[in-house]
Amino acid sequence: MSHGAADSTTIVIYGASGDLTRRKLIPALYSLYERGKLPESINIVGYARRPYSHDDFKNEVHGPLQDVLKDKYKPEVWEKFSQHLYYVRGDLSTKADHEEAEHFLSSLENGGSNRLYYLATAPEYYAPVVECLRDLHLNVEDTGWRRIVVEKPFGRDLKTATDLDEVLHTAFNETQIFRIDHFLGKETVQNILFFRFANAIFEPLWNRNYVDHVQITAAESVDIEGRAGYYDKAGVLRDMFQNHMLQLLCLVTMEPPLAFNAESLRLEKTKVLRALRPAQMGNTVRAQYEGYLDEPGVAPNSQTPTYAALKLYIDNWRWQDVPFYVRSGKALERKSSEISVQFRRPPHLLFDLPKGKKLKPNVLALCIQPDEGIHLRFETKTPVSSDIQSVDMEFKYTDSFRDVSLPDAYERLLQDALLGDNSLFISDREINLSWKLIDNIIEGWAGPQAPPLVTYERGSWGPKESDLLLEDDGRVWRIRCGQNQK
Ligand code: BG6
Repeated sequence: MSHGAADSTTIVIYGASGDLTRRKLIPALYSLYERGKLPESINIVGYARRPYSHDDFKNEVHGPLQDVLKDKYKPEVWEKFSQHLYYVRGDLSTKADHEEAEHFLSSLENGGSNRLYYLATAPEYYAPVVECLRDLHLNVEDTGWRRIVVEKPFGRDLKTATDLDEVLHTAFNETQIFRIDHFLGKETVQNILFFRFANAIFEPLWNRNYVDHVQITAAESVDIEGRAGYYDKAGVLRDMFQNHMLQLLCLVTMEPPLAFNAESLRLEKTKVLRALRPAQMGNTVRAQYEGYLDEPGVAPNSQTPTYAALKLYIDNWRWQDVPFYVRSGKALERKSSEISVQFRRPPHLLFDLPKGKKLKPNVLALCIQPDEGIHLRFETKTPVSSDIQSVDMEFKYTDSFRDVSLPDAYERLLQDALLGDNSLFISDREINLSWKLIDNIIEGWAGPQAPPLVTYERGSWGPKESDLLLEDDGRVWRIRCGQNQK
């Protein structure tokens, strides 16, 4: 496995005292280390303002690591892994602090080293950190490669995303920039492309001639979990749609890429984003869970939506006039992310069905989480009767890959960043096009055509307006894998 120019590699995590580092990055790095997927000579250096010693930092991440890994945690692995952990105290926007950190890093690296800079800070520090790295020439690839991972949110609209990109590009070129969307690191999300393009039987049906509509759901049972400071300014469109939901939409609708590489994948995703028709306000639903306004830190009378449902169209040859219903929300009945492709009904009914009974359409459901799998619903004759019944043909990861537990998305993405493969990261063009669509809706929601901000009960499946969005078209949301709402 080649990790680039130098023999050793240093990962510098900016914002290392935060939640992301404890809950995602350190557990992912530990697992990669255990599986022998990290370069042998690896340094993982946390950088933040708190006055920690190296040992304090190790203690700080040790507990959460055990909580996350549960019975997968092994003290003997931690013993070795933790020897690669270090900490540097510093202010994120103070150049002198970065300079001092650099003395420590150079002493650690003893000659040359590759560097992966990871921005796990609050977003307002992204640009200041990049400027410090640039001004101190820490972006220069003289003794090894230099890459930077940028967490979401990538801007809060097109303008701020473009500004951030401008700063990033003063220091790094596009191949050195890794904009994370952790959904792309999920096995089941990557499998969308394998399912579509490693099989010959589905793709001929994957178009407006056979597909009636597509539903994309990312339902969460958790509420904003004390993150009001971030969430109340963001809302569900920025938090889930600009990134995860639109990426899922791209993967399910894009044309076959020439190859499974960054250039081809990004090109095809960009084409989908370009073809997205601006959403009409009447095709959008915005809602807030009951009690949101009482959450600590939420502004009084906040208009921030915690739930949205959109009906979108892709103006291209393959998808013209096929509706894509996309919904996501917090504090819903349960966590469930899935994409379901609903096919058209057979053109002519030749069976004499019991009175009032209609043929149900075939549905292909790609279940992303939990209950990862793929289900195909089709109709069968009920034995010893002339009735008809829907049945499921099922693939479940837990049945077919019994001894394999699905890795966390961050493992795959960190590994790819170390290998320099940005196929599963987002390009600047995708970011900009996604923001265009989202900005347009957010502006519409502040204007005279805005749909009312409605509320929904905690633990429900969202507001009735969301059901009406489909019912008006004679359709219903599929609620969970393998089951229909009605
Ligand atoms: C994050 C959002 O990007 O994705 C969170 O900021 C959300 O609000 C999370 O809860 C959902 O990710 P997952 O992997 O738990 O489905």
